[in-house]
Amino acid sequence: MNIKLRISKYDHEGRGVSRNNNKVVFVPGAIEGELVDANIIEDKKNFSIAKINKILEPSSLRCIPKCPYFDVCGGCTFQHIDLTNEEIIKEESVKDIIKKYAKLDINPIFISSKEFYYRNKIELKIDNYNWGYYNTSSHDLISINECLIAKESINKIISNKDLFKIEKGSITIRSNYNDEIIIKIETPNNYKIDIDSLSKENKIIGIIVNNKLIYGEDNFIERVGGYLFKVNINSFFQINLDILDRIFKIIGGKNLGNIVDLYCGVGTLGIATKKNKLYGIEIIPEAIKDAIFNAKINKQHNNLYMLADSSKIKEIDEHIDTIIVDPPRSGLNKTTLNNIIYIKPDNIIYMSCNPITLARDLNVIKDNYSIESFYILNMFPRTKHIESLVFLKRSKNDR
Ligand SMILES: C[S@@+](CC[C@H](N)C(=O)[O-])C[C@H]1O[C@@H](n2cnc3c(N)ncnc32)[C@H](O)[C@@H]1O
Repeated sequence: MNIKLRISKYDHEGRGVSRNNNKVVFVPGAIEGELVDANIIEDKKNFSIAKINKILEPSSLRCIPKCPYFDVCGGCTFQHIDLTNEEIIKEESVKDIIKKYAKLDINPIFISSKEFYYRNKIELKIDNYNWGYYNTSSHDLISINECLIAKESINKIISNKDLFKIEKGSITIRSNYNDEIIIKIETPNNYKIDIDSLSKENKIIGIIVNNKLIYGEDNFIERVGGYLFKVNINSFFQINLDILDRIFKIIGGKNLGNIVDLYCGVGTLGIATKKNKLYGIEIIPEAIKDAIFNAKINKQHNNLYMLADSSKIKEIDEHIDTIIVDPPRSGLNKTTLNNIIYIKPDNIIYMSCNPITLARDLNVIKDNYSIESFYILNMFPRTKHIESLVFLKRSKNDR
């Protein structure tokens, strides 16, 4: 059944929000103020999701998406408005979330990035030899020839997909500062890759299929902000180097004393700080090996790394001035959060890719700490995702 919906605001994922029969309706691709003709495609107890059939009263902010797959691909959220308006929506959304869940008013500094060709890693699904992303509202594959938010060197691999005979599975393509490429493929079937032709046109460093190295190396060197980082195919690395460079400039300012870099990955954030001594904690074995190597190549001899769960921070038997945390989307688990508060560092630097769990954790941390600065980083332009970087100082009455 067709319904008419007036869009009153956005939700935290950048979807338009309306009401139908007193129930909240989320409308992907709709802009505040618009009147749309839509169909309910998902009806839950407390909310529905609607798909636009026709925009009856378009917003003056509406623009033509650059990507031909935007209407169907689940990857991007914001190509129907320009970057400036995307940033306004994201800033308001983070402010609202922090207000709602942490009961704090923030005055953030917004850091922009170029809108296209920034991603240094993408994962595509493979079905019937086609490569692509899933449809926004189903598990149907949208076959693509290009992804506008991925680096050109990654798009060159996509344009060479005929050199890969893979029926089903997934492919992860990573590219570093020098446009070198490592590829990871998962497939249940027999496969064939014309590596000779692929290497003639691309700087292929390594290919891993079903966790087995079949060509070259399983890692490459990334370079950003004057630092070098060895990155294994299984290790996390920030996906937008321009934004990472900005982060390094922000956190590299003053000496942070004795640091714990919790969820340290390959050592990225901690290595870019001025400090006396550093303890890094990370749960992925390949990443911790990379971190140990990276401390050496960056000539940092006071860094110690531990393969452990973040909650083990309590076992560090030394005075800690600063704790950096950069957890996955789930945020800090209860034990880790309690342990951080027990240690009472002067500074907490919280980097987060999920404002909702960040707000939940700030709601606890704020009892003993106040926010010194709050950065919103547009690490993932055109998508719904957003990164925050928060500097917290221990309150005077808690010292
Ligand atoms: C968002 S990444 C940040 C990595 C690093 N700080 C950086 O800037 O590249 C989160 C990291 O936390 C690690 N991790 C996830 N759960 C963990 C846990 N329970 N304990 C320790 N590390 C964990 C992941 O493997 C990943 O490397």
